[in-house]
Amino acid sequence: MDVTAAPSRVSLGEGSTPLVRAHRLSDELGLELYLKLEGANPTGSFKDRGMRVAVGRAAASGAHTVVCASTGNTAASASAYAARAGLRALVLTPAGATASAKRAQASAAGARLLEIRGTFDDALRLCRQLGELDGFVLVNSVNPDRVEGQKSVAGEILDQLGATPDIVALPYGGGGNVSAVAAGFAERGVAPRLVIGEAAERATTWASAIRISEPAHAAHVAELVEAGRVEVVSLVEEELRAAWRRLATSEGTFCEPASAAGLAVLLRLGIAGGETAVCILTGHGLKDTDAVDQSSARVVDATLEAVLAEVA
Ligand code: F0G
Repeated sequence: MDVTAAPSRVSLGEGSTPLVRAHRLSDELGLELYLKLEGANPTGSFKDRGMRVAVGRAAASGAHTVVCASTGNTAASASAYAARAGLRALVLTPAGATASAKRAQASAAGARLLEIRGTFDDALRLCRQLGELDGFVLVNSVNPDRVEGQKSVAGEILDQLGATPDIVALPYGGGGNVSAVAAGFAERGVAPRLVIGEAAERATTWASAIRISEPAHAAHVAELVEAGRVEVVSLVEEELRAAWRRLATSEGTFCEPASAAGLAVLLRLGIAGGETAVCILTGHGLKDTDAVDQSSARVVDATLEAVLAEVA
């Protein structure tokens, strides 16, 4: 069964996400900038592209449980697709280190959610062991089916743009996504400049989705760098925050903190020669509303005077 071919019974309609031109940022930065809104996927992140394939294959193989370690989005996606496929989901997250909306998504779908006293890296080590057990399938991006499914974003960008962009920028957590994006472009015979942003403070970054100390795909990413196909930029926390704020306030594209890493890289590199650039915004802002400072919101009386007094 070719589960990479749509439609499948497990599909939730992932992919075909909007590619929108960032008019204001393009003018401000001297670029032709486009934003690929992966938060528009069914569970709010790019993970759904790969999860359809990985969970579809797990179901076809006769497994009873999919297992994953997660900073939150993989958990939310695996849980939804497992529910859809009639499989159990066992998800391990680092205790106290994931956004509550993501944990809520996993629980809502009926997953077994265990918050472990440890890091994402500890959780992944455990899940690799669990994945060896009979009837269990590991659906982290070390499962090649995930990468296979996530490739589709590259072809979509080419089709939506009607051209090959000069630059594609995205976050670097474990490295599964950049591996998929690079492979997707290679399959179409093109090689835009791929620039990826990681948190300089990997173990503690505010961008909890990419709080990963030991990237599972580090060796492959190093090969891509060696081959001149990918550039890695380490971003300090304020660069991530500034890019994230700017995406929401200049373009109305509210993404989660990690998703702003692509724009942060473009800002750092100072690319401003009119190039066509695409930032892949990997997850929706509603995933992590605690990241937003809501202190300027006020409770006022329901009178015109009270409202005008606030906005004067
Ligand atoms: N952006 C978001 C929103 C993510 O959730 C992740 C990874 C990444 C970027 C990095 O992608 O790992 O393929 O380099 N999230 C994983 C998770 C770790 O568990 O949800 P990567």
